[in-house]
Order: sequence, then structure tokens, then C-alpha cells
Amino acid sequence: MTTPRYVIDLAALRRNLEILSKVKQDAECKIVLALKGYALWKSFPLIRDYLDGCCASGLWEAKLSQQEFGSHTLTYSPAYKEPELLELLEISNHLDFNSPSQWLRFRDLALKHPRYHSGKLKLGLRINPEHSTGSTPIYDPCAAGSRLGTTTEQLDGVDLTGITGLHFHTLCEQNSHDLKSTLEAIHQKFGHILSRPEITWLNMGGGHWITKPDYDCDLLVKLIRETKQRYQLEDVWLEPGEAIAIHTGVLEASVLDIVTNAGQHIAILDVSATCHMPDVLEMPYRPDVIGPNGLAATASGQHLYRLGGPSCLAGDVIGDYAFSNPLKVGDKLTFDDMAHYTMVKTTTFNGVPHPAIALKHEDGSIECLREFGYHDFRDRLC
Ligand SMILES: Cc1ncc(COP(=O)(O)O)c(C=O)c1O
Repeated sequence: MTTPRYVIDLAALRRNLEILSKVKQDAECKIVLALKGYALWKSFPLIRDYLDGCCASGLWEAKLSQQEFGSHTLTYSPAYKEPELLELLEISNHLDFNSPSQWLRFRDLALKHPRYHSGKLKLGLRINPEHSTGSTPIYDPCAAGSRLGTTTEQLDGVDLTGITGLHFHTLCEQNSHDLKSTLEAIHQKFGHILSRPEITWLNMGGGHWITKPDYDCDLLVKLIRETKQRYQLEDVWLEPGEAIAIHTGVLEASVLDIVTNAGQHIAILDVSATCHMPDVLEMPYRPDVIGPNGLAATASGQHLYRLGGPSCLAGDVIGDYAFSNPLKVGDKLTFDDMAHYTMVKTTTFNGVPHPAIALKHEDGSIECLREFGYHDFRDRLC
């Protein structure tokens, strides 16, 4: 086995999709894949059997959605440039604006577009209910001073003619109880807009941890059904990323060297926190690690190593892990749950080689989709 390598497991992906599909059916809602979290388009043929399209953060993701997924494209960006917007009008099914100023700036362009008139393009506004439920400030769009979404105060007196739906995204790895309290804030602050007859859809964003075993799907279904009924909505949309790809992929690595400093054993790997799993530093997040003998590493124990990457960053450290045997150069380690918010975020900082990308098919065979070389590094730089 050549490392480093991401391996995406299609059987695991299908397991998640089956759960999401049941929610869709029970709640009579639509669910799309948030490309920002997972965008391995070679797996789209499977996802397309279950979901309604993709959520795009701008033109490039919208193009990927249109070209490789080929169903609905729901686009939202904190701010559009005019040339980008002109292309997005051609390929988006929903185009959501973040602020009244963006809406008012581009409204005329959007409203005169033939796709708007034919009903293929719907225009929406992202709202900010200012109701924080998460625990990590960097993932809280509702924090005071946030740039994400329009507050009731910012909305005062704005002409929304042409807007047919609202969009909110306030959750991150959360259960439906937090959606419940968020919806209560939305009823209070934006209920008067949702009640307007021209508002026909609501996009409840991502951050719903639907495929986690303790997620309360029944409550989610109830909330969607109640909201649809309360405002006579035609559609409610969810746009999760993580829930689709959680526990569907691994990152395989090799031990390059072992050093000891001040009594601390350190294994230097051919994978890097900063280059290949940046959420380990940003979230922060501690991945599970499987040792060379197939046994899970633990947080403490006899053969304890600090696992670090080959970059110059002193903090390029994945964490401290104990193994059942001493590690040695050439040993293979497997980092679990590495499909989402990894491949979409990687860099070749320090010229660290990018992991290959492989698919594990449902019959168990592994297909290498792409290997990266020096030219991929060079060509990104000019
Ligand atoms: C607007 C929007 N929609 C959807 C998502 C997907 O969220 P998640 O992957 O947590 O489900 C995000 C994530 O940041 C987002 O910003």
C-alpha cells in the first residue's frame, strides 16, 4: 500500500444516504449535498440516487454541481462579484443573497433573467436569527458582529419583492433539539416574512448531524413537517455536508521517523494536520487512529507517541496516541473519518505531497482515482 492515501468507502456512503433518504421521505423535504464539506465527484453517481442536488458556495462549486451532479444547485455566497453572479444566474436553481445590499445591488439583473421568469431560478435571502447554539466560536454564524446572514434589524424597510424563500445556516455537528430552539427564534423574528404568500420555501442549512447514531431524526421530521404546515411552504431544504460523508473514509499514512525529545516519543508521518486534515487544528478535532496491527490507538498507554506531520509548522501535530506495540519506521497508520472537510481543504504547504485518492467499491475492490505529483504542486503556484 502506497501512502499517503485517502480511501472513500462507497458502502459506508450508502449507509448514510439510506438514513438521509428516510428523513426525506418521512419529512417530505429535499436534501442536497454541501460541496464545501465533501466534493469527491466520482462518487456522485451513488449520491445522485438518494439526494436532490448540491449546495454550492460560489461559482466553482455551482459548476461542479451542474456538470457532475446534474440536479438542483442551491448557491449561497457571503458576497458575489458581478461576473460570477451573471454565470450563477445561468446555472443555479436557488440563488441566495447574504445581505440587503447584495440583494439590492443585483436584484434587477436577477429579476429580469429568463430563468427567473420561467421558474427555474428562485431567489432567496440568508437570515441570521442571532440564536447561538454551538460551542465553537469559529463555527458560530450567529455570534454578535457576524457577517453571515441578515438580522431583523438589517432587514428593516428592505423591499424583498422577488425573494421567494429564506435560508438559514446556524448549526454545526448538532442535534435536532438545537434546530428546534433555532426555529423558535426564527418564528419570533422572521415569522412575519415566512407568512407572506410569496415565500414558498425555507432552506434550513447544514450542521444537522443526521447520520450520527444518537441524532433524533423523529424530532427533525416533526419540525420540518410543522414548519411546512405553519407557513404553507412548498419545500423545506436541508444542505448537510458532514452528515453525508461522516465515517465514510480514511487517510492512510506511514511512519517516516521516530524521535524523542524531553522524554516524549514523536512519530513523524507522511501526512500532515495542516495540509491534509486542517480541522484537527481548526475545529479542533481528534481523529481515531488504527495502528499497524489493526488495533485502535488509545489516548494513553505504554507506547505513547505524538503524531506529527512533515511540515515546518511546529504545531503540525495530530495528537498523542498510545499503541499496543512500539512504532517503527515504515509502519502504516490509518486515520479514521477523513472524508469530509479534508480533500476540499488540503494544501501542498511546504511542498508536502498530496495524498492519492481512492474509492473502495461495494465489492471491496479499491480503485485509485488520482495520484498527485510535483506538477500539481508547481502548477498551483503560477
Ligand atoms: C451555508 C452552509 N450550508 C451548509 C453547510 C454544511 O454544513 P455541515 O457540513 O456541517 O452539514 C455549511 C457549512 O459550513 C454552510 O456554511
